[in-house]
Amino acid sequence: MRTQVGIVGAGPAGLMLSHLLHLAGIESIIIESRSRAYCEQRIRAGLIEQWVVNLLNDTGVGERMQREAMFHSGIHLNFSGRLHYLNFRELVGRGVAIYGQQEIVKDLIKRRLADGAPILFEVSDASVQDIDGKSPKIKFKHNGAEQEIACDFIGGCDGFHGVCRPSIPDGVLTEYDREYPFGWLGILSESPPPEDELIYSYNDRGFALYTMRSPVLARLYFQCAHDEDIENWPDDKIWEELHARLGSVRKLVEGKILQKGITPMRSYVVEPMQHGRLFLAGDSAHIVPPTGAKGMNLAFADVRMLSRAIAEYYKSGKTAKLDGYSLAVLPRIWKGQRFSWWMTSLLHHFPNENAFDRRRQLAELEYLVGSRAASITLAENYAGLPLD
Ligand code: PHB
Repeated sequence: MRTQVGIVGAGPAGLMLSHLLHLAGIESIIIESRSRAYCEQRIRAGLIEQWVVNLLNDTGVGERMQREAMFHSGIHLNFSGRLHYLNFRELVGRGVAIYGQQEIVKDLIKRRLADGAPILFEVSDASVQDIDGKSPKIKFKHNGAEQEIACDFIGGCDGFHGVCRPSIPDGVLTEYDREYPFGWLGILSESPPPEDELIYSYNDRGFALYTMRSPVLARLYFQCAHDEDIENWPDDKIWEELHARLGSVRKLVEGKILQKGITPMRSYVVEPMQHGRLFLAGDSAHIVPPTGAKGMNLAFADVRMLSRAIAEYYKSGKTAKLDGYSLAVLPRIWKGQRFSWWMTSLLHHFPNENAFDRRRQLAELEYLVGSRAASITLAENYAGLPLD
């Protein structure tokens, strides 16, 4: 097989890259180790910044999102026994939308297939080769047969545990890493969320987040030990913890738990995000803790830039934008890292903290909701910083 851009990974980054390239008249093939059903069902991130809403609409894949997403103007912070609302629309003129990652993945897969793109699911033994040369290759097994895609460029959109990043030679990459001494236990429950918009709850028992996928489907998380065993959390204990961390500010309705799992928390960036003709985008190059809801948004910002750089190459033969890809996307990624680390540090219990640290966190929360300047700082980051 031969194509212009070979893409490893059919998550939001790989699919959107392929879609944007198609709109620029550039061919691509996507390979994916999981099945289509798995990609379309895995519950992950759920919050998109305003510019991503616009991107989906402007590129013709926003129709169902426009109908089914929940458009939010802000968030609630829950501390000192009451809710404090930050209205992003009023503060910075833009909001966010709740629309599950798997819904975006469904919409993009449907559209890519309708546009005739090959997406090869359930491939195994994938590797990328000759990334230093002019004709890199992706090798893999599909339906029991060895296959090879020869291409001009490779998009490494295969996530944190993918094969692309490790295929870059030793000594090229610098990793920046932080692990947090806690995780999140998350459930999806067949019940209404306690509020129309998200509640970030600062509590002596630890952080909790009350979000949603629809008016009748709550997505609820609470801070747990980093090595927590889900077996230690029968449903009634989970509800007890969620009630306690919400406090009396709202009533939490219990429902059937459809899914539960533990999310590890880490901050990670690799630099540069490219080598030869391999370009990393999304989780293959950077991970954020989920507190600021930045993960999928950063992935879309990467592929927006990468698709433009590749389009410039095919239009004019110029490689300046490709050469500068990593330098162009890293400033936004680092701002997303800073914000996610800050939200995480502000709201969680840390094992080595003392009473001073708790009072300091509380003072910062009071400052955040009491100062318009501080509220704007949170709002402009949360709703998405301006694009370059
Ligand atoms: C979610 O809806 O899953 C979600 C929302 C906001 C976050 C994290 C997760 O900060």
